[in-house]
Amino acid sequence: MKILIASHNENKTRELNHLLSSSKLTFVGLNVFDNHEAVEETGKTFIENATLKAIHFANKYHMPSLADDSGIEVEALNHGPGVYSKRYSGKGDHANNLKLLDELQGITNRRARFVAAIVVAFPDGKTFTFEGHVNGTIGFELKGDQGFGYDPLFIPDGYYQTMAELGSIVKDQISHRANAIKQLKEHIDEMAHYQ
Ligand code: IMP
Repeated sequence: MKILIASHNENKTRELNHLLSSSKLTFVGLNVFDNHEAVEETGKTFIENATLKAIHFANKYHMPSLADDSGIEVEALNHGPGVYSKRYSGKGDHANNLKLLDELQGITNRRARFVAAIVVAFPDGKTFTFEGHVNGTIGFELKGDQGFGYDPLFIPDGYYQTMAELGSIVKDQISHRANAIKQLKEHIDEMAHYQ
C-alpha cells in the first residue's frame, strides 16, 4: 500500500519513516509533488487537526494520506500549550522552550505529556485515527541536542534524562509518535483491504 506522508516537518517525517520502515507501507513525501502548502490548523484537538491535514492531501492527490498532529500538554498550564505547541512563542522551538521554563517558574507540578494524533485518510473521506501518549515531567533547564521541539525539556517517566539526551533509539521505543504508530501497524491489513 502506497501512502503519502502529509507533513512538511522534516523531523516528524524522519521519525515516521523510521517507525514505519518495517511495515508493508511504501511512502511518498510531499516533496514528490513539490508541495509547500500549509493547511490551516483550525481544530481544537490534535485529532481534528491531523484529520484536516490528512483529508486535504488525500483529496488533492487522490491517494491515502497520513498526517500527524502533535504537541505537549502541561498539567500546571491547564494542559496547554496543546494544539498551540508549535506556535507557543511565535518564535520557534528554542523560544518555545524558554517560554515554557518561564511560565513554570516557581511551580512545583511539572507533570506533562506528549500527544501524537495520527490520521490516515482515503480519497473517499474514510479515516483511520490513532492517538499515542508519553507521560513525563518538565525539567528546569534545557538538556541534550537530539530530537526537536520540547525534547530538551521533557523527561519521560522512568528516565532521568531528557528526550533530547536519550536520543532516537530510546525515543523510537517510548514516544507518543511510536505509540500511535504501533496502533496503526496493528490496523495495516484492515487499511490495505479498505483500499
Ligand atoms: P504540529 O506540526 O502542528 O503538529 O506541531 C508539533 C509541535 O509540537 C512541534 O513543533 C513541537 O513543538 C511539538 N512536538 C511534537 N512532537 C514532538 C516531539 O516528538 N518532541 C518534541 N516536541 C514535539
